[in-house]
Amino acid sequence: MKKQLTPQTLLYPVPVVLVSCGGLAGPKNIVTLAWAGVVNSTPPMVGIGVRPSRYSHELISQTGEFVVNIPRADQLKAVEVCGSTSGRTSDKFAATGLTAVPAQKVKAPLIAECPVNLECRVQQVVKLPSHDLFLAEIVAVHADETVLDARGRIDPAKARPLAYCNGQYWQCAPLK
Ligand SMILES: Cc1cc2nc3c(=O)[nH]c(=O)nc-3n(C[C@H](O)[C@H](O)[C@H](O)COP(=O)(O)O)c2cc1C
Repeated sequence: MKKQLTPQTLLYPVPVVLVSCGGLAGPKNIVTLAWAGVVNSTPPMVGIGVRPSRYSHELISQTGEFVVNIPRADQLKAVEVCGSTSGRTSDKFAATGLTAVPAQKVKAPLIAECPVNLECRVQQVVKLPSHDLFLAEIVAVHADETVLDARGRIDPAKARPLAYCNGQYWQCAPLK
């Protein structure tokens, strides 16, 4: 027997990412996002849904660039700080102790401590009722050697990504 639920954003699990934006020289920021996903293969593209009220929305709109940093489960504290405070009133790099380092192709900084970083360049912005969807090409990828398997691919057991569902954080574990 199935129960009908109200229409809602019920897709699970979704990834939790730290998006860094702005520039190393000027204002820079980090925002926690769960509305993020792959949207195209060739070229590789992601989409992120950001409310226009966010400071990060302002920075990404100005520069047309951002970095998707994939945190490890043990970086949850930083994820919570970046998801509950605004860069308008606090420096989240200072607040979390995360380090901004230069990216290769975009001006937005990478977060050094996150094992995987996707440099992204915005191609299109779709205005939706509550969020703006930034569709962006992944123009460079960085992965810490410690999270790669013998064939040079990301090993999720090592990268330990976070997932989000029903207001709760989950960590991914392999099936076998
Ligand atoms: C787990 C989690 C997921 C979030 N996902 C999103 C999201 O997908 N889009 C969004 O606009 N805000 C999202 N937020 C809220 C922002 O992270 C939060 O409002 C943040 O303080 C905005 O920072 P900023 O003003 O510095 O950009 C999320 C927060 C948390 C904790």
